[in-house]
Amino acid sequence: MIKLRRIGHATFETPDLQRMIDYYTQVMGLVLAEREKDRAFLATAIGQLAVELNKGDAERCAVLSFEVAPDSDFGALARELDKDGVKSELRNDCVPGMGPALTFRDNKGTGIALFKQWSYLGRHLAHHGVGPLKLGHVAWVVDDPQKAADFYAKVLGFKVSDWIDDWFVFMRCNADHHTVNFVRGAHTKMHHIAFELKDFIHMQNACDLFGQRNIPILWGPVWHGPGHNIAIYHRNPDDQMIEFFCDLDRMLDEELGYFEPRPWHRDLPQRPKTWQSGDSSNIWGPPPLPDFHRALG
Ligand SMILES: [Fe+2]
Repeated sequence: MIKLRRIGHATFETPDLQRMIDYYTQVMGLVLAEREKDRAFLATAIGQLAVELNKGDAERCAVLSFEVAPDSDFGALARELDKDGVKSELRNDCVPGMGPALTFRDNKGTGIALFKQWSYLGRHLAHHGVGPLKLGHVAWVVDDPQKAADFYAKVLGFKVSDWIDDWFVFMRCNADHHTVNFVRGAHTKMHHIAFELKDFIHMQNACDLFGQRNIPILWGPVWHGPGHNIAIYHRNPDDQMIEFFCDLDRMLDEELGYFEPRPWHRDLPQRPKTWQSGDSSNIWGPPPLPDFHRALG
């Protein structure tokens, strides 16, 4: 069984590379770590790679990378993937600061890159904009969330943290409540990508920045039920939905099987479960603007 340790970075294709670099450096608050003619690499202020941008014909999330243990044997991992019917390729041409990566495609065609060596792309760099702590999770619209959850559980070792009814599943690969989500919708594509902020004050600062720049907040601040994260959502210039969140649930001990105790949990203890739509799946906050739901159309 492959054991992922954390999500590394997301690779996006974009028709307007400079416009997205401007967004990620001036609004998101990442740092431009390296720039090539048709590629850019953006890191958090502490120097962790979070986003790769490649010039392309249309916007899309093309690849997600995940870190595996430093003593992982890529040959053994490739054989495990092969047993699950997944063909992989070891590549050495990945990204700055990253060693070789074992690459393959998930069941919906998204590239996956497993890496075990990496280095910081700078240290405590000055940044503009919001300045998130890290890339947190990526949510996808798929026609069959159960099928996607089965693939991510069987092939990549993810565990189910929560469902909302039978249309939205949250999955974890480490202590964080979710690193990938799958929601049922008409067209398979990324639903949103989420970056973690330090706390609610950091989120307030993000809201101030959106106000100054006339960037609509599509939803939030809202306190979600599953994961108990406080979240705000907006769209970037490629019309992709971006979430900022803080205070996400963490399961520190898998054998205990409950999320780290917090006074505001709905259940005591809070264990993985199926939430019902509508009533308890959000604790407080306004409903989303209608535009939020466009991604499911
Ligand atoms: Fe999210």
